[in-house]
Amino acid sequence: MIKPEAVAAGNMGKIIDMIIGSGFRIVALKYTRLSHGEAGTFYEVHKERPFYGELVDYMASGPIVAAILEKDNAMEDFRKLIGATDPAQAAEGTIRKAFAESKAKNAVHGSDSDENAAIESEYFFSGRERF
Ligand code: CMP
Repeated sequence: MIKPEAVAAGNMGKIIDMIIGSGFRIVALKYTRLSHGEAGTFYEVHKERPFYGELVDYMASGPIVAAILEKDNAMEDFRKLIGATDPAQAAEGTIRKAFAESKAKNAVHGSDSDENAAIESEYFFSGRERF
């Protein structure tokens, strides 16, 4: 997912270009916006964390880009490509190093397991939107 601040800053094209250039195939792609309730459900695993309210407000603050990506070892390789949660810790050449504003406004989200990737994919896409 490309998050609201990265979309608002006009970086969605550059980020998609980095993703494709790193060998990922786009299976599904959507420009959409999460309601407050939807953002809350999407990040429910973080409900007990102190930053949950801020995260949900932010994720509902503007349009996002959702995608399903395919590649050998996709989950791990995508997390490498996006870099550390905190852009101050993100390695050179990563998406967050280039585009993230802060720990919360960190430009992109990547699923943290194959199981969560399947759940998050179901959340955004029907079967006929996948190619
Ligand atoms: P993401 O990869 O989407 O997964 C959970 C999100 O919570 C994370 O990226 C950040 O946007 C946000 N997050 C994680 N840690 C913090 C923090 N310490 N302060 C604010 N937001 C955070």
